[in-house]
Amino acid sequence: MPFEGSSIMEFKTIDELVDIKDKIVLLRADLNVPIKDGDVSDTTRIEKVKPTIESLIKKGAKILVMSHMGRPKGEVVPELSLEMILPSLKTIWDVDVQFVNDCIGETVHNQVAKMTAGDICLLENVRFHPEEEENNPEFTKKLAEIADFYVNDAFSVSHRAHSSSEGLGHVLPGYAGLFLHDEVMALTNSLESPKKPMMAIVGGSKVSTKLELLENLSQKSDHLVIGGAMANTFLKAQGKEVGKSLSEDDMIDTAKEIMAKASQNNCEIILPVDCVTADKLEEGVQTFTCDIEHIPAENMILDVGHKTVDIIDGALQKSHTVIWNGPLGVFEISPFDEGTSKLAQLVAKYTQSGQIMSVAGGGDTIAALNKAGTVDDFTYVSAAGGAFLEWMEGKLLPGIKVLIER
Ligand code: 3PG
Repeated sequence: MPFEGSSIMEFKTIDELVDIKDKIVLLRADLNVPIKDGDVSDTTRIEKVKPTIESLIKKGAKILVMSHMGRPKGEVVPELSLEMILPSLKTIWDVDVQFVNDCIGETVHNQVAKMTAGDICLLENVRFHPEEEENNPEFTKKLAEIADFYVNDAFSVSHRAHSSSEGLGHVLPGYAGLFLHDEVMALTNSLESPKKPMMAIVGGSKVSTKLELLENLSQKSDHLVIGGAMANTFLKAQGKEVGKSLSEDDMIDTAKEIMAKASQNNCEIILPVDCVTADKLEEGVQTFTCDIEHIPAENMILDVGHKTVDIIDGALQKSHTVIWNGPLGVFEISPFDEGTSKLAQLVAKYTQSGQIMSVAGGGDTIAALNKAGTVDDFTYVSAAGGAFLEWMEGKLLPGIKVLIER
């Protein structure tokens, strides 16, 4: 559902929460962080929520932090207990944080009774209760009964209409946290009021998973770069042979429709003109770089070639806004990361020179930008995966909608 970016301005942020000393704030964060050997391997989401935590502490609220971790499917899965991230929270937020092993009921009430102004307590994984993902009103009430206010600082889970991410917004006075606010503003500015010309870069393997994204971006951008295996379906739609490359034959007609619509909207689609191929996908495999017209029948496309990067660069030099989701090649395996890395370095360079505003998001995209060493040089890199994608598809996320409508 397309929407006006300006309506986003209507939600209240925690800056408007005043006189909340000793009030209980239920804060939805997304602490679904990657864990490696028992440690948090990427602390970005914990760091990003810190300004909200600090602001609420300063105002003397009693803060109950709620989150999910993984997908326990409504069961208590000890490996997905949030207790394991407690040391990281204490270190990064630089405060003491208590923990209770449930998110509703007596144990939470008992803990709250002991809290004083500015105290923080982390509640156990909300998804240990099946009612959370059902957005069950009774469960939502149980979460809400102890609190005075609800704060959502979890943009990355706002595409889920769950009790903690949406339901609570109907039963408690709801406010946006500072991280959520910043993220919504950055994404709204780039998508709804971009400085033109605008380039969208969409990669990944399947057209079918990014159909709505391609449709929305082809209406808003001046150049739409399509890379990754999904480009192969478009190349086939143009009658080209792609050897053994991955493609979706049942999406060829859809690809033709997207190209036709883009052309009606004066959006130029940029597809690979050359590519790096191999007969198998392996680190160090012998590669063969060729024009798209000359792909050996037994090979598959695994990255874009330098001529393609040069063409994208030509369009990039005229652009003022770039939105990026998805790598151009199999960036996880060298040397098929080179096309994505070169393009990431160009976008980073033009961002740093002040020519473009660049926004990127999605798990794979962040990993690719990290590999290229460019993640800090983009204007804004979203910590969200699915939520970023849905936002870029033009959808108003349920967790944001409820904050606007209250
Ligand atoms: C994410 O990592 O994208 C969010 O935490 C949402 O997780 P989910 O896809 O399990 O809802």
